[in-house]
Amino acid sequence: MRGFFADWAVYQAAVRGNSLRHREAAAAMRAAITARGTGAGRVLDLGCGDAGMASLVLADLSPHSYLGIDLTPQALALAERTAAAWAFPHAFQVGDLRTVLAHLSETVDTVIVSLAMHHLPTSDKPEFFRLVRERLGPAGLLLMYEPASLPGELRADYCDRAAHAFRLHFTEVSPPDVEAIIDHVRSADYPEPPGDYARMALDAGFRSVRVGYEDPDRLWAMIAIGVD
Ligand SMILES: C[S@@+](CC[C@H](N)C(=O)[O-])C[C@H]1O[C@@H](n2cnc3c(N)ncnc32)[C@H](O)[C@@H]1O
Repeated sequence: MRGFFADWAVYQAAVRGNSLRHREAAAAMRAAITARGTGAGRVLDLGCGDAGMASLVLADLSPHSYLGIDLTPQALALAERTAAAWAFPHAFQVGDLRTVLAHLSETVDTVIVSLAMHHLPTSDKPEFFRLVRERLGPAGLLLMYEPASLPGELRADYCDRAAHAFRLHFTEVSPPDVEAIIDHVRSADYPEPPGDYARMALDAGFRSVRVGYEDPDRLWAMIAIGVD
């Protein structure tokens, strides 16, 4: 990974300070799982990182099983430490999320993707939704928390808005680290408007889309996308 993910300590400090609104997004994911009525079931977490988001979402939902996927062994070493506190069955696998989705033989009930699939360019995202749809069983749920641009907004303008908000709100990381985070966004993030995520999901065969949370700066959105 490029940019500030070389330094997980910086990311974890920002998450601890809730600068990326993980708590609200996790609460919205939990609400979507609870509303489904059948629990979290078998969970696949794509780009799980240090599994901090999974902890917030799943802590007391007792999923049947959990598989966390990430590109880097460094992230998964941190995830193993996070998961030491979990009482439910879990495993981690190094891999590219699309490759894992394409080769997974079993279906799952819940797919989480949080701040990880926006590295895919726009043209690759429809395939992501198709692959997730194929892996989800009946009543399956895709819970995504990802950068969301405004309708019609240019990527450069989204990055400028993000830079402005990060300089104001990322108080728990040093100014040079904030600039490194901004550089990472400018070089690696490809946000889409929630409506575009919704269209791609519906085109891939999903039947329901609901925005469960948008942060006050409208930089990220949690979207619950259902097979039914
Ligand atoms: C910003 S972190 C998010 C971690 C966690 N999901 C969260 O919400 O805090 C992004 C993570 O996605 C992983 N990632 C990015 N692209 C990926 C890909 N194509 N396949 C698997 N993991 C990926 C990175 O290695 C990194 O750990």
